[in-house]
Amino acid sequence: MAGIAERQELSERILGFMNGGAMCLMISIGYQTGLFDTMVALGSATVDEIARKSGRAERYVREWLGALVTGGIVDFDPATRCYQLPEAHVPFLTAGGDAPNLAVITQWIAELGRVESDIIDRFANGGGVHYDQFHRFHEIMADQSGQTTVGVLTERILPLAPNTIDRLQAGIDVLDIGCGRGLALLRMAREFPNSRFVGYDLCEDTIRFANERARTLGLSNLRFEQRDVAVMDTADTFDLITGFDVIHDQRDPSAVLRNVRTALKPDGVFLMQDIAASSHVEQNMDHPLGPFVYTISTMHCMTVSLAQGGAGLGTAWGRETAERMIAEAGFDRLEVKEAEGDFLHYYYICS
Ligand SMILES: C[S@@+](CC[C@H](N)C(=O)[O-])C[C@H]1O[C@@H](n2cnc3c(N)ncnc32)[C@H](O)[C@@H]1O
Repeated sequence: MAGIAERQELSERILGFMNGGAMCLMISIGYQTGLFDTMVALGSATVDEIARKSGRAERYVREWLGALVTGGIVDFDPATRCYQLPEAHVPFLTAGGDAPNLAVITQWIAELGRVESDIIDRFANGGGVHYDQFHRFHEIMADQSGQTTVGVLTERILPLAPNTIDRLQAGIDVLDIGCGRGLALLRMAREFPNSRFVGYDLCEDTIRFANERARTLGLSNLRFEQRDVAVMDTADTFDLITGFDVIHDQRDPSAVLRNVRTALKPDGVFLMQDIAASSHVEQNMDHPLGPFVYTISTMHCMTVSLAQGGAGLGTAWGRETAERMIAEAGFDRLEVKEAEGDFLHYYYICS
């Protein structure tokens, strides 16, 4: 039987998980309702002032503030009944600061929770949960990669592949596989008008969103198509192919890697971003987001692959498996790099 100290430690840790999960919901709501921005604009303010300025219902705002005060996110002064977001917390909860807006990623907890009963069913019966059974997946994904990837694309990510910026400026053909809502290509197409860009994604709604955005911005060097890259039969066409967080949730990741290899021109480069992890769970013990990585895998990345009868590699397929599969796909050269300030991804430069 476990010792008293061990039992106590575990129960405290589980209570901590409950508070952590609860805070994710509250922070996500604060982000989506704009309440954090309102609080920044107001400084020290009463519930009524925050509710009025944000146009939100006072009773909900008061209860939400109760969670944030007891959770240590917001300061409360009982003498004045005023609430304030401490200055040091602002960059992590709003856009445009000098830190990643972590409120964006808290949105995942509610999104994953929506498919919990479907996932429990798959534990009993196997199979998977398909992309179209999620509610806000593509929206949150674009929101997250807007920060982690698109915001630092030209500055930190593209330079990881040698000469890429120069080649983009001169004019090359670029494909982004699994482009989602297309934010990475929308940025590249604007910054490198001499190059030509195409994005493929499986999901019709993301392609519609991306094409509308490209039209609004008047970009003529960019198009998006609904395509399954596992059956792409293009050869010697692209100078650069990018894949941001895409390979691990593929139905047939080996076929996709082979197709990418074939679609590249002889001197072309595949820049693959994927989750920084080991393929071995025991080597992920110090991963800052270890439990989250396996959770999002169970409830999204692995299951969307299994839903298509796929490999179900999982989010933590890891560097060892990635390196082996890249070599099996026929790439001769591979360098694995990290981008400054990005602990969540490895960058595989394949040619
Ligand atoms: C994790 S999301 C990443 C989206 C985008 N690259 C980003 O970073 O925001 C993976 C994307 O790959 C797409 N996808 C999955 N399998 C695909 C396939 N076989 N062909 C094309 N797109 C695929 C999904 O629809 C989804 O938009």
